Amino acid sequence: MRVQLDGYEIACTDAGRGLPLLFVHGFPLSRRVWAHQVAAFAPAHRVLAPDLRGLGESPLGTGEISIAAYADDLAALVRRLDTGPVVLAGHSMGGYVALAFTRAHPELLRGLVLVATRAVPDSPEAAAGRRATAAEVERDGMRGLAARMASQLLAPEPDEPGLRAEIAALIAASAPAGVVAALHAMAARPDATPLLPTLRVPTLVITGDADSLIPPAESERMAAAIPGAELVTIPGAGHLVAHERPAAFNRALAGWLSRAGLA
Ligand code: MLT
Repeated sequence: MRVQLDGYEIACTDAGRGLPLLFVHGFPLSRRVWAHQVAAFAPAHRVLAPDLRGLGESPLGTGEISIAAYADDLAALVRRLDTGPVVLAGHSMGGYVALAFTRAHPELLRGLVLVATRAVPDSPEAAAGRRATAAEVERDGMRGLAARMASQLLAPEPDEPGLRAEIAALIAASAPAGVVAALHAMAARPDATPLLPTLRVPTLVITGDADSLIPPAESERMAAAIPGAELVTIPGAGHLVAHERPAAFNRALAGWLSRAGLA
């Protein structure tokens, strides 16, 4: 479905009924990476999975793009769909957005799931690398980035044949202008570390032990800093843990939802 917000439009999957789970994809992906979670959780939850502005099927529009602006988009979506407070699951860049949402819209949050992400901002070198990638995408389009990232997002030997090609095609289909905007947004994001000890919602941190993009140690540090957070490390999973190892990921999420009284 497409949801009209104030002057822009968000493409969003909205399936099932029950306590709402909102899944936010990472870079440079789309809501399609949550297909296994939509199928598994819609029987017991209202499952929302939007495309962030400029990515997937959501147009870039003309407004400012930042991690905080993506978070404000999600708050506007939650309000427009009148779901009440959500359990928010963010993967990687989606986790940066989830932390910004937590800071700006705590009244809309019932639980937080941080997937293969981190609270620390980019180093100056990492931010410069993003700007160089943005210049490359502006010049050459998505092809080079799609080939590189499809490998980086997955564990060295993903079990499912064709997964790497599927992810490369998904990335290659991304709109270059949206990808460039996301790169600049990530490069400029603030440090979310001071927020972690102040969190008062049930929190689950999930990582894959073969994540080469955001090392599992980042997840361990975040989980240790968030009061009461649980940490799950999924063996054999790379950065795209929920899509790569859906059965193990969904088991971990369902178990935590039930223990946290959010099932
Ligand atoms: C992502 O998966 O969203 C990105 O790899 C995150 C990042 O580049 O920091």
